[in-house]
Amino acid sequence: MNRNIMVCGKWPLTLDEGNTGFFQHLHNAQKNAQCFERALQGLPTGRTVVEHYGGVGVGSTVIQHVLRPKSHVIYEIDDQCIEQLRRHIPRATVRYGNANTLMGEIRADILVLDHPYHTVRSHESLGRQWNAVFAQKPLAVVWPDGSARRFHLHRGLYDVALGCAVTTEREYLEAYSELLWKRWGYAIRVAAGHSYTYLQVTEGAPSVIEFHRWSPVTRTVERVP
Ligand SMILES: C[S@@+](CC[C@H](N)C(=O)[O-])C[C@H]1O[C@@H](n2cnc3c(N)ncnc32)[C@H](O)[C@@H]1O
Repeated sequence: MNRNIMVCGKWPLTLDEGNTGFFQHLHNAQKNAQCFERALQGLPTGRTVVEHYGGVGVGSTVIQHVLRPKSHVIYEIDDQCIEQLRRHIPRATVRYGNANTLMGEIRADILVLDHPYHTVRSHESLGRQWNAVFAQKPLAVVWPDGSARRFHLHRGLYDVALGCAVTTEREYLEAYSELLWKRWGYAIRVAAGHSYTYLQVTEGAPSVIEFHRWSPVTRTVERVP
């Protein structure tokens, strides 16, 4: 049986039954959506958007309402998710596509890469793909960074990837912003997260990052000084 949810408490989305792809991880979907909405703030509307890792369309619903894209192409590899996206995100074009080969190949003004396992270390494992992403000179790239989940366990690995020692998530993101700037001329502007931190990355030198956190008390995303 399908069910209706309100994404970010305000935008309706029907979810079909499913048990593969992002259907298995829906417990985080609403928090992700709220953080993702915040990470899109200030980006221009009416542009072309390419979204990899489309899932069940929670993020796609946010994109449709916040960015009101001129064109919106979604890629996914899971059949149930592709069906779900085709049925319930009718204004987007949904295609089968593996981000490991397509990320950066398809030009867009705004690129969204909603994969939970990206950290600074993915720039090594998916180095060619990230080079292609920034070589397109997009207006913005938005993705979730997953380092906060096991930050203390993996800190040493992040130190190596960043080339400096970091002790907090904030230091990690500031060093990450410097790395993006030195490597591709982009930097982190907004970071909004819970255990995944959605990053808004745009061209230009690093500036003060705007931090937001999802609060379990208010169940909203709050600005962190
Ligand atoms: C975190 S979920 C995306 C959630 C989505 N933004 C939403 O709000 O529904 C990640 C999705 O990526 C898909 N996926 C995993 N590996 C992929 C790949 N290499 N290329 C494209 N999609 C992939 C999975 O099937 C899963 O549905």
